[in-house]
Amino acid sequence: MTGGRSAGWGAKRWVAGVSAVLAVAVAAWSAGGASAQEAGVTEIAGPPPTKQPPVGCSYRNDDGLHINTSVSKQVLLMYGSATDTISFSFRPSTKTEEIESVSIKGYKRAIITSVSEPEQTVVGNVGGVPVTNMTFTIGFDGTVGDTGYEVEVVTDADTYTMEGAYEVGGFVLVLDEKIVSGEEKDGLQLGDVVALVKKSLTECSMKWKTFGSVTPDVGAIQISFKEQEGSTFLKEVEYEDTCEVDGYVDNKLAPGCGVGFSPGGNAFAIKTSPYRCGYGQFFIHFTWPSVELNGEVFETVLIVKFDKSSPPPCVALGDTVEVDSSGGVVAVDMFNLLNPPQPSDVEKVILSYDGKSFDSNNGKSTLEQPDQKMVFEVSGGTSGEKYDATIECAFEDRTIEATYLGGKVVIDVTGEAGLPERKDLPERDGKIRVAVLIEFDRYDPTNYTVAVHNKCLAGFFEMLGGDADDYGLETVRQGSAIPVVLMYADDQEDYDAKVETLKADLAEESCKGQQAMDEPCDKVRFLESYIVASDGSGVSGDSGAAVASASGLATWSIALIAVLGALIVMLLIALALWAVYRRSAEQTESDYSTSGPLGVPDPDDLLYNESVVRDVYGRSNGAGPTPETAAARAREAELREEFPRPPSTSAASGRAETDDASSTYSGLMG
Ligand SMILES: *[C@@H]1O[C@H](CO)[C@@H](O)[C@H](O)[C@H]1NC(C)=O
Ligand SMILES: *[C@@H]1O[C@H](CO)[C@@H](O)[C@H](O)[C@H]1NC(C)=O
Ligand SMILES: *[C@@H]1O[C@H](CO)[C@@H](O)[C@H](O)[C@H]1NC(C)=O
Repeated sequence: MTGGRSAGWGAKRWVAGVSAVLAVAVAAWSAGGASAQEAGVTEIAGPPPTKQPPVGCSYRNDDGLHINTSVSKQVLLMYGSATDTISFSFRPSTKTEEIESVSIKGYKRAIITSVSEPEQTVVGNVGGVPVTNMTFTIGFDGTVGDTGYEVEVVTDADTYTMEGAYEVGGFVLVLDEKIVSGEEKDGLQLGDVVALVKKSLTECSMKWKTFGSVTPDVGAIQISFKEQEGSTFLKEVEYEDTCEVDGYVDNKLAPGCGVGFSPGGNAFAIKTSPYRCGYGQFFIHFTWPSVELNGEVFETVLIVKFDKSSPPPCVALGDTVEVDSSGGVVAVDMFNLLNPPQPSDVEKVILSYDGKSFDSNNGKSTLEQPDQKMVFEVSGGTSGEKYDATIECAFEDRTIEATYLGGKVVIDVTGEAGLPERKDLPERDGKIRVAVLIEFDRYDPTNYTVAVHNKCLAGFFEMLGGDADDYGLETVRQGSAIPVVLMYADDQEDYDAKVETLKADLAEESCKGQQAMDEPCDKVRFLESYIVASDGSGVSGDSGAAVASASGLATWSIALIAVLGALIVMLLIALALWAVYRRSAEQTESDYSTSGPLGVPDPDDLLYNESVVRDVYGRSNGAGPTPETAAARAREAELREEFPRPPSTSAASGRAETDDASSTYSGLMG
């Protein structure tokens, strides 16, 4: 026994040794030479016990009677070892016979690992022939199982022998042919963090011995974990009470169950938690009620040690943490932040996401073994965004990024989703500014949020390169949602090239842009683009790339409205002219044939020649009526004079008005 052993276990060992002796004394010997019987006892055959020791060797039973047949004793290999004594009386044949040697022989050295020198005490005599008490201390520091032995006394006249046997109960765990279980053993020597991440499962073979006909039930073994004195159990092995003790099946342990026996009791496996290593040692403590001796139940331990040469990483357990957009608290489960296993305690942990970093609030954090929980007070972020956080651990002499177990820590920002704000692009030397209209079918301007816009920009980064500084946002227009994204181009050529790229990548068949925007292929499309005037106010050029969308209130439609406005002004002028004309027509009815009907100017007329617009009937130069149809139309016009069409002044309906007029005109033509 060494000084390091806990008092409790030492005491138990002592009790075990005593109980083994008692077992023999009570069960075997008090049986008074009867034959084999229940567990804990032995076949005893031969002459009945006698008061006087017979010639040769004899054991003594509780009643002080002597017996020289073989006895079998039981011992528990408590905490991997046991001691017992073999003592017997020796009576030589004659007074003068000299003892030359006394020894124990013929035992299995894997089970009986040590035999002391005999203590020889003369305890009396029979008719002058001395009787000597011979006592050996037997050590069991190996495996479990059965072994016989023989005591042998050699004198100058003869050799005397007597047999005995031991049953050593319990179990041992064996790795690479070495017994690793037990208090005095080296235990499991596991590798460092690198080795264990590569191979975390270690399998030991198991050898067991139960007494009598008791079938071993390894499922009944009770397992607990204890730190070695002065050390810390860092939860290197995960184990819950709900784990099946005999859960090592098909070379696998259940998740969260880091140790287990195979159901038949052939093997024991231990699986370390990834990265939880690097310091000290701990014990796995086993109690096995199936192996019991006089009320004492078998117990043992397995010492587990790690290679400490490389300090383990600081480890963060991956998780998704919801944070309000206005800020909140993020708590991250971590381990390996303290000494041990680190050379020093962590000073702070830094959490970064979305370009911002936050130091841990150590006061609010749980910096205890074996697990730590680090708390950060963060400023939030964009609603609807999910950020992969980076976690760094700052120790005295080094700052290392955490190893993420089970994925990264994701900051999921909740709360009222903000809408993207207008962002002007500042002028840049040698650059022109361009507006690009992209249509998103799945949104409208009320739910085209910052998060969605960021996805849109991510698409631009992917298609054209650049970063947030290279893009602006003029507005988000109605028509599903149509962000007007501002960006730079070097010149017209560069502009054309960029537009071509956007068109190609946002084509449904390509879908490259949509993928980068995390949108379905058919739900995002390029609408049009234009060059922004140097004062940033509007359009100064067009790439001619417009792809009109019925739903888009695009630039071309604004231009159309402007043109229609001009048309209406001209129409009013035309009406005024018509009024003047009518008055003169009333005076000279026959003049109408030289002038257009209803005040439309003649083809030589300045207004007609320049005719930017159509008249209310949609006519313009080049499409004027022939003289024949003009006459027919004039008649119809006379009929209509009673109900002249009022000119429309509504800009919104301007286009429809023109279309109506055109169809009227076509109808007349037909
Ligand atoms: C055991 O003792 C009896 C007498 O009690 C004797 O006859 C016998 O030879 C002894 N056996 C041995 C193995 O010494
Ligand atoms: C021999 O002596 C030991 C202690 O001195 C005692 O426990 C044991 O019972 C003795 N054995 C015999 C056979 O007399
Ligand atoms: C955005 O709002 C529109 C109109 O309310 C709705 O049809 C659409 O499903 C919304 N989109 C998303 C992604 O919530």
